[in-house]
Amino acid sequence: MTRKILVLPGDGIGPEITAQAGRVLAACQARGLDIEVEEAPVGGAAYDAEGHPLPDVTLAKARAADAVLLGAVGGPKWDKLEDIAKRPEKGLLGLRKELGLFGNLRPALLYPQLAEASTLKPEVVSGLDIMIVRELTGGIYFGQPRGIEERDGQRVGYNTYVYSEAEIERIGRVAFEMARKRGGKLCSVDKANVLEVTMLWREVMERLAAEYPDVELSHMYVDNAAMQLVRAPKQFDVVVTGNMFGDILSDAAAMLTGSIGMLPSASLNESGQGMYEPCHGSAPDIAGQNVANPLATILSVAMMLRYSLGEAELAERIEAAVGRVLDDGLRTADIASEGCRTVSTTEMGDAVLAAFEAL
Ligand code: NAI
Ligand code: MG
Repeated sequence: MTRKILVLPGDGIGPEITAQAGRVLAACQARGLDIEVEEAPVGGAAYDAEGHPLPDVTLAKARAADAVLLGAVGGPKWDKLEDIAKRPEKGLLGLRKELGLFGNLRPALLYPQLAEASTLKPEVVSGLDIMIVRELTGGIYFGQPRGIEERDGQRVGYNTYVYSEAEIERIGRVAFEMARKRGGKLCSVDKANVLEVTMLWREVMERLAAEYPDVELSHMYVDNAAMQLVRAPKQFDVVVTGNMFGDILSDAAAMLTGSIGMLPSASLNESGQGMYEPCHGSAPDIAGQNVANPLATILSVAMMLRYSLGEAELAERIEAAVGRVLDDGLRTADIASEGCRTVSTTEMGDAVLAAFEAL
């Protein structure tokens, strides 16, 4: 059965990095992977062309696809758009919501070749390999009621932090399954000493733990988790948490590696369909210069193969190719270092493809 992949290049460096990822997809195709790859506009590019950051046609194609690869959206050109619903970021949020992408996987992996890119001491971060599983479609970012209104002569702003048992359970299962495949350790992050919603969260995680006797479950309050991530990050393997805590902790964990251009991500729905994208944004400051690091997007393709297409071997081959290229001392400008050769976006793509073929 031919699987459908939709590529959404987006804005800024998006087209440059997805072009390199597209070459890797083509190389997989040449090795017998049965896929059909299509492109569609999203974000500011879609607004310019069609007046909306998520055109109906793009959404329909995304729904029909087995997996979506997104570059990045946004840029100063669209920041002043009066109609907030038309801003590029709304294209991304719309996709997450419409596809029901509740399970966000954010690995923080430090390549040994890039240990010096981290601001932390090498002994604290070397060998770091964390997977943060963040709930993406619920919690305080979506809870109702919400708003700003006048109460007793004062303006107040409020949001609602709400999770149903079913929502907690489904993200919990993603995390337990992940822990089972990795090191067998899962840390659930909450604020159960203060927030009822996370008391329920903790209860559901405990209940699930009985079904996964091979996984060692621990709990941590979010404030402590923030401290521990910086103090001794290697104590973590898989971390599961809600939308807001996950937003903050996953960015902090990503920065432990020091190289935003290296980090992929996945967002999955209940049927295993997923959207894959680099963690970074559209980097308008370097767009169009052929200097952006395409590796986060190429590694997002590897995640796509692993999580949506069931092609773990090809995924490993891509990851190994990236490792090989780093071993060979090739670096884009963002990870440049002494004694290494600084290469362009396309040269990095060339090198990954060559390593992929040679492995
Ligand atoms: P950013 O991640 O785009 O850039 C931050 C810094 O990292 C910049 O100096 C940039 O040049 C560098 N950088 C990022 N990716 C890189 C890569 N692959 N290779 C080399 N250097 C790279 O974040 P920023 O500047 O806050 O946002 C820029 C735009 O991107 C904004 O419009 C923002 O809304 C949007 N954005 C979009 C996201 C998405 O589509 N998922 C996520 C984050 C931001
Ligand atoms: Mg964030």
